[in-house]
Amino acid sequence: CGIVAYVGDRTAYPIIIKGLQRLEYRGYDSAGLALVNDGVHVYKCKGKVKDLEEHAKGKSISGSIGIGHTRWATHGEPSDNNAHPHVSQNGKFIVVHNGIIENYSHLKKELINRGYSFKSDTDTEVLANLIENIYLEEKVDAEIAVRYALTKVVGAYGLVITCTDEEDKLIAARKGSPLVIGVGEKEYFLASDATPIVEYTDQVIYMNDEEVAVINKDNLTLKSIQNDSKKPKIQKVSLSIDEIDKGPYEHFMLKEIYEQPLSIEDTFRGRISMDHSKIFLGGIIDVLPQITQANRIIILACGTSWHAGLVGEYLFEEFARIPVEVEYASEFRYRNPVINKDDVIIAISQSGETADTLAAIKMAKEQGATILGICNVAGSSIPRETHAGVYTHAGPEIGVASTKAFTSQVTVLTMMSMLLGKTRGFLSKEEYTHLVGELTQIPDKIRTILQADDEIKKISETYQHATNALYLGRGYLFPVALEGALKLKEISYIHAEGYPAAEMKHGPIALIDENMPVFVLATKDKSYEKIVSNIQEVKARNGKVIAIVTKGDEVIKKMADHVIEVPDCHEAVAPLLTVIPLQFISYHIAVMRGCNVDQPRNLAKSVTVE
Ligand code: G6P
Repeated sequence: CGIVAYVGDRTAYPIIIKGLQRLEYRGYDSAGLALVNDGVHVYKCKGKVKDLEEHAKGKSISGSIGIGHTRWATHGEPSDNNAHPHVSQNGKFIVVHNGIIENYSHLKKELINRGYSFKSDTDTEVLANLIENIYLEEKVDAEIAVRYALTKVVGAYGLVITCTDEEDKLIAARKGSPLVIGVGEKEYFLASDATPIVEYTDQVIYMNDEEVAVINKDNLTLKSIQNDSKKPKIQKVSLSIDEIDKGPYEHFMLKEIYEQPLSIEDTFRGRISMDHSKIFLGGIIDVLPQITQANRIIILACGTSWHAGLVGEYLFEEFARIPVEVEYASEFRYRNPVINKDDVIIAISQSGETADTLAAIKMAKEQGATILGICNVAGSSIPRETHAGVYTHAGPEIGVASTKAFTSQVTVLTMMSMLLGKTRGFLSKEEYTHLVGELTQIPDKIRTILQADDEIKKISETYQHATNALYLGRGYLFPVALEGALKLKEISYIHAEGYPAAEMKHGPIALIDENMPVFVLATKDKSYEKIVSNIQEVKARNGKVIAIVTKGDEVIKKMADHVIEVPDCHEAVAPLLTVIPLQFISYHIAVMRGCNVDQPRNLAKSVTVE
């Protein structure tokens, strides 16, 4: 979900609407806002921000204080009633909330016993009523009521609240769900991340867990829930407004696919010496001894970031000879994993806010492991929780299906594994320099693949009506197969599975017939001969083969229905090239099927709930 709020002298409505549009990638099944103007006006509805604008048309939209929300349902289905803001029973408190109140049913029962009734199924309405109940019964200021209510809450929240008796101020609080405050001249902006704020100010405060801010246009006070005063730390954000616009592209996803030569360059900029003999990763220098001597690396992530982690496993084991486990953060945190002090944990997350990943590293940290982060959003929660880390610097990724964040994550993992391989003595100087050189050539090689966009679009046309698809790869390209399948599922709603090519014969081969497109990652590497046999197995069963091959491959061309060429490269960097055609294929198929590419149904960019 996304929150936007404003307090100052300008009209709040357009600031909130525009901000919500910028945050729509975080969730988009309902939207709403509240404007303070001689009382509080609340407008909310199921649907997108444009539906909200439609809904507010002709109504009073003045006022220079307001709060807004775009929702991705966690409690209760998407509906007008469940949309935020939520208003307390006696109308005193208006609340927008991200996160989940875990003990809401217990709190709700207590409130029902006290005479409260509820209009929605949400945990947020429970919170609004809880605050109001304390406020009315204890006869305290709104801020005290909020702080006191939060001590009773178990769960995660990013909150912005207004109280009709104290109309000049907003009260914000955070635990587990991000909240950024933009500091202007006699005005403040609040949002779930900096994207809605950057066009007004580059001065921001990242709120910390269990902090409460009370803000009017002239003043901001920050304290802990327990009432200890805190000094706000104002930082400069480097995000620029061009980075969050679509430019000439029809969708953010397409823009982000095209950005990859530049985003990868940004990832290694300043980190590789001109002669390729050195990699500097400043963010992990202090813990390099621990990483070098690690008994084991555990990579924790979700979704696409987990796929990047799998590529990392192959890289670290190959070059640095450190055993690696790659875990879904959600599974790791809920079993009883064995964590040792000499384990190094690497959390990979584009947003830096994924709830499961964040919780998993907190747990590992308590058990004494060294925690590193590979994240894209600077200042987000995961980097703040880690001992050290490397930012991917891919720039804001708005399309819900991750593209450039993935290739930047893989780039960081490639650099890290090579650096460790050299430090641990498993890579000779020559091998190392050669590999670093291979990595630096990737952006130009991707540029060549981008030129094949139209050709790939044509191939995609053939398969736009498929109901199933299979993706096969071996070694470094097995995770790419998983990622290709995920991309297709996410945005075109075609069922797809990624498999290690050799595993096909243990199950998926039964699915193959003339209607089954099989995307095979078949570039020239040490398992090339084997993948050629896998292609023959598919063809023998009349499957359709779309092969991603090394430029000039004549053998596979004769067997496959379609080939897409990528430039020759070292096998360890092949994931960075071979994933690009798969991104294009899912993009084009989704567009042809009329799907909402940037905002696929039921998905959210940043999953700050469990
Ligand atoms: C969501 C997004 C995915 C993303 C995953 C992990 O499911 O839709 O694109 O890969 O979360 O997100 P993170 O920000 O931790 O990389």
